[in-house]
Amino acid sequence: MWASKRAENVPASVFSLMDAALGRARAAGRTVINLSIGSSDQHPPDAVLDELRAATHDPATYRYPVFSDTSPLRQAAAAYLGRRFGVSVNPDTEVLPLIGAQEGLAHLLLAVTDPGDTLLLPDPCYPPYLGAVAVAGLRTHLLPLLPQRGFLPDLDAVPEGVNARALLLNYPNNPTSAVADAAFFRQAAEWCRARGILLIHDHPYAELTFGDYRAPSALEAGLDGVVELHSLSKTHHLGGFRVGFAAGDARAIAALARVKGAVDFHPYLGIQRAAALALGLPDEVCRAGAHVFQARRDALVPALRNIGWDVQTPQASMYAWARVPGLTDSVAFAVRAAEESGVALSPGRAFGERGEGFVRFALVQPPEVLVEAARRLGTVSL
Ligand SMILES: Cc1ncc(COP(=O)(O)O)c(C=O)c1O
Repeated sequence: MWASKRAENVPASVFSLMDAALGRARAAGRTVINLSIGSSDQHPPDAVLDELRAATHDPATYRYPVFSDTSPLRQAAAAYLGRRFGVSVNPDTEVLPLIGAQEGLAHLLLAVTDPGDTLLLPDPCYPPYLGAVAVAGLRTHLLPLLPQRGFLPDLDAVPEGVNARALLLNYPNNPTSAVADAAFFRQAAEWCRARGILLIHDHPYAELTFGDYRAPSALEAGLDGVVELHSLSKTHHLGGFRVGFAAGDARAIAALARVKGAVDFHPYLGIQRAAALALGLPDEVCRAGAHVFQARRDALVPALRNIGWDVQTPQASMYAWARVPGLTDSVAFAVRAAEESGVALSPGRAFGERGEGFVRFALVQPPEVLVEAARRLGTVSL
């Protein structure tokens, strides 16, 4: 009786199903390997934690932060975008701190769309996108991400009659770990501009890249009609601290600031100081974290191929996306795998219909544990 249609339309999370299955595995005495949730297990840089500790002793950080208080973080974000991607943004009008990219996306959709508008949404995608879509009352036109296209959407396949308001992309991608190059973002931005569609790029894995690969920014295609969401959750292991920023088209950023003004007061000032410091740290700091995930990738991918699973070697992100030969019900399989082997994965179906037949591994355990997980999974029947 007290739930709105909007609330009821937010899809339930599959993680509670996995949690229950792991509970049964524990009750049966199995040691559990949880690879289902993509939360970094590494520590934030010491300097970042020191900055936050110091801020908690500074009474100037205890009040509500107002917009002008966010200037140091906005400037640090602008300097990072300039240094890392060669993108020039005005920190006063083209950057806004977020309480994480997830918060930013949900409010951005409220800020730039009206109920009944259409969002072009990849399938599969990060599941909270569907919740944000429900909260904003949007329709979706799904863009299949297929292995044969490198998990990039075919924008030319969108029918002329689809009158969309925004396109949501995310590369390095969750769940497929696919990457997109600068030329793809240029084409996508041009395609959107020609149709009056806002391009939203969710970019939390910007620095989780392997070897010589570096992820581009969608903002390299110009700021006009483009907004990008950055997060320190994965790049600096600050997931629990809830901080990120939006950057791009000043009109969309202004609309987002209006909506957020009705909802929150910006992140705690101490977290803003810590995030500003993090964004100014030398590149090697993020590279060190990325190397840890790369070593895990290098252990898991061959171990999965060994049990006959089909997996590409990711160039970025903290996931491996594996097609399991003969798999037709990934949710039932993931529940059974958790119960029988103690290994929790994310079923591909949880990310959308096009995810069926796949499972996603989060690289959140040391290499030897990942190899053990693959060994155990090889004993689970389909
Ligand atoms: C694609 C994507 N966007 C956003 C988030 C959440 O980011 P944040 O912690 O900044 O809210 C995640 C976390 O897994 C993600 O995979």
